[in-house]
Amino acid sequence: MQQTSSSSFVLGNIAVLATLSEKYIHPENPLGIVENAALHVENGLIQWVGSKSQLPEILKELPYQDAEKAVVTPGWIDSHTHPVFAGERSGEYAERLRGVPYTEIAARGGGIRKTVEATRAASAEELYRSARYWLDEMLGYGVTTVEAKSGYGLTTQSELKQLDVLGRLQKDAAPEIVPTFLGAHEFPVEFHDRRDAYVDLIVEEMLPAVAEQGIARFCDVFCEKGWFDVDQSRKILLAAREYGLLLRLHADEFSPSGAAELAAELDAVACDHLMAVSDEGLARMAEKGVIAAVLPGTTLNLGLENFAPIEKMYEARLKVVLASDFNPGSCVCANLPLIAQLSAMRMRWVPEKLLPAVTSDAARSLVLDDRGRIEKGLRADLVLFDAPGIDYLFYHWGRNHAHRVFVAGKEHLPSHRNALFTS
Ligand code: NIG
Ligand code: FE
Repeated sequence: MQQTSSSSFVLGNIAVLATLSEKYIHPENPLGIVENAALHVENGLIQWVGSKSQLPEILKELPYQDAEKAVVTPGWIDSHTHPVFAGERSGEYAERLRGVPYTEIAARGGGIRKTVEATRAASAEELYRSARYWLDEMLGYGVTTVEAKSGYGLTTQSELKQLDVLGRLQKDAAPEIVPTFLGAHEFPVEFHDRRDAYVDLIVEEMLPAVAEQGIARFCDVFCEKGWFDVDQSRKILLAAREYGLLLRLHADEFSPSGAAELAAELDAVACDHLMAVSDEGLARMAEKGVIAAVLPGTTLNLGLENFAPIEKMYEARLKVVLASDFNPGSCVCANLPLIAQLSAMRMRWVPEKLLPAVTSDAARSLVLDDRGRIEKGLRADLVLFDAPGIDYLFYHWGRNHAHRVFVAGKEHLPSHRNALFTS
């Protein structure tokens, strides 16, 4: 992907600028839209935002980038992904299509364990190359920040290997990476009849090593019937908190196991999946301000119908974010805008709620206060879409509308650039 940069420039001729900023948001303008807008970027940060008629004279001297009447939003944020893995599981997918459930495949040693076997055998270089490939793909969709998990190693050494790959990608890949340690993704085959011993290994050996390595920002646990139970998850997350890691959970994906309640008890930042969450779980999350991360690509990919209950979540005044869950098993799709389009269609998730779910609120769910909105002083992570308005991004599905992508003020040109609405 080509890269261009100029440290100070004006981006003008923006037909629709969705700022997501409190400065412009009001009940009739929930996305803080400014029409006929311009903005000034300097040293990777947004320095001025407004209507182009109010652009200060002095900024008119600067290098000018023509947005050609694009729709512009903050860079999209994918707050839940598993991009560091080896191998593929298309055979299991075909089996699932023939009616074998995901949980059954997992119970007989397939699923996550199959990817663990391939990932353990892969070199760091191989993992780096494939993850970088997926991240470049995401960037082309306008995704500029990606939370990315380990969890396909399940030994101290191979979890560290995955995190090390994420550390390299933090330096080299265009989207910014937020690394998460997910040693509690599955019980490795060698511990299948000694589950508590694996929990002890995570607490006594993996977490100290992960903390010393210093790459992971979050610790995650797959808290679910058949995987880590509430007590095991609590033990791991409490220890992780001692090491200064922020907490999040894979929770209540298949059945209401008390995982959402645990997230609230431990003041987790976010709680993800929630297809089977109980009302009590949602109420506890609301009390503690735990953010709900909804992953409908997984529901679709697993052929299920029970999408996470977003209406109840919004009624409970939870912040709700949308993420891809990109992984080689339950959601083999790294295309967050496509998942947003399908969420609109299948869940009636409306554009004015979907856009914050992948920008401003997604940033909050990663505890990043320097992005997710278009405001003076924030990072210039920007996507220019070839579309006539925000609704169009979700209406015309299966098409990549991202046209130009800026990460911290640097442009990365998606290779597919075709114009229909911009000129
Ligand atoms: O988020 N739910 C647990 N973990 C992943 C699945 C990973 C896999 O199947 O490889 C998920 O859906
Ligand atoms: Fe996941």
